Amino acid sequence: MLADMERFTLNSAEVSRIGLGTWAIGGTEWGEVSDGDAIATCLAIFEHGINLIDTAPIYGYGRAEQLVGRAMRQHGQREKFYIATKAGLEWNERGVFANSDPVRLRQEFEDSLRRLGTEYVDLYQIHWPDTTIPMERPAEALLGLYEEGKIRAIGVSNFSAAQMDAFRRVAPLHSNQPPYNLFERAIDGEVLPYCRKHGIAVLTYSSLCRSLLAGRLTLDTKFAEGDVRRVDPKFQPPRFEQYLNAVARLGAFAHENYGKSVLELAARWVLDRPGVSAALWGAKRPEQLSAVDGIFGWKLDDAAMARMDAIVQESVTDPVGPEYLMPDVRS
Ligand SMILES: NC(=O)c1ccc[n+]([C@@H]2O[C@H](COP(=O)([O-])OP(=O)(O)OC[C@H]3O[C@@H](n4cnc5c(N)ncnc54)[C@H](OP(=O)(O)O)[C@@H]3O)[C@@H](O)[C@H]2O)c1
Repeated sequence: MLADMERFTLNSAEVSRIGLGTWAIGGTEWGEVSDGDAIATCLAIFEHGINLIDTAPIYGYGRAEQLVGRAMRQHGQREKFYIATKAGLEWNERGVFANSDPVRLRQEFEDSLRRLGTEYVDLYQIHWPDTTIPMERPAEALLGLYEEGKIRAIGVSNFSAAQMDAFRRVAPLHSNQPPYNLFERAIDGEVLPYCRKHGIAVLTYSSLCRSLLAGRLTLDTKFAEGDVRRVDPKFQPPRFEQYLNAVARLGAFAHENYGKSVLELAARWVLDRPGVSAALWGAKRPEQLSAVDGIFGWKLDDAAMARMDAIVQESVTDPVGPEYLMPDVRS
């Protein structure tokens, strides 16, 4: 059944409020994903009213972008997809570093076009701020691509309000992509109010808290070698149990009040937060997108939000954020 998808406008394009996240189909940090499953997932978006796919060169070191490209070719109509990709992360044998050197960004852009098999990118985002150079430098580089018509909107990711301010001195800024979910709410402080004030779209990542809020995990869940959740501090004892208790209580709340699952509640919560434009949803297989259909046609009011806040605060006494995802600063 086609979900009754909500939409928003991003620099005049119509975009679904749920976007497929493709970090996992890169295949390096979330266990193995076959080409067939990855491509089928990218094509399944249309069954749920989704047109937004978020990807990045770093996801599988080029593999995720290539698979998105193959899916678009298989589909045949490039313009039906709203493709958000990124630049500004460099990787080598020493690790992953933020690098927004403008010459490098140009090269990255050409590499992404080749992997995606496209002539333009709908939304081009700086993946992480490179604090070794002024934010105006990557802004100039993206402005150039925008004025040439090669990118249709300019975005950043993981930027603070001050970093967005510096960026906006040089170029228009259409979106920011921060982490946001029931357990990770740092952007409530400055970033979300800043984006609301300046009309900047917010695409949230880890909307399901890297599967914690999807409701299928138990204390016995084992993650494969190399899976990012093996090092994620939320998934380690004794904290993991606190988070699982919160998930169980939120699940009961969702069931009793709405006849919904905790996954549906968590996704609805993100979409109902003022200032959020879209929630990214990581999926490796088409059936993981089925739950998207259940998050539309109902809403959370202030009283429900307050009750959910109380459940999280009572259950998680030792909270931790997603800072471990931050890349290194290059020398
Ligand atoms: N800009 C950045 O710095 C940044 C950082 C992180 C992520 N992102 C973007 O945001 C996207 C999503 O965030 P995320 O990857 O952190 O993960 P997420 O969306 O919070 O969680 C994804 C995980 O939730 C589980 N899940 C999804 N649907 C499910 C279902 N129907 N039933 C049960 N479990 C389900 C799956 O885990 P299992 O496969 O284990 O079941 C899936 O891998 C990424 O793919 C990427 O595009 C961006």
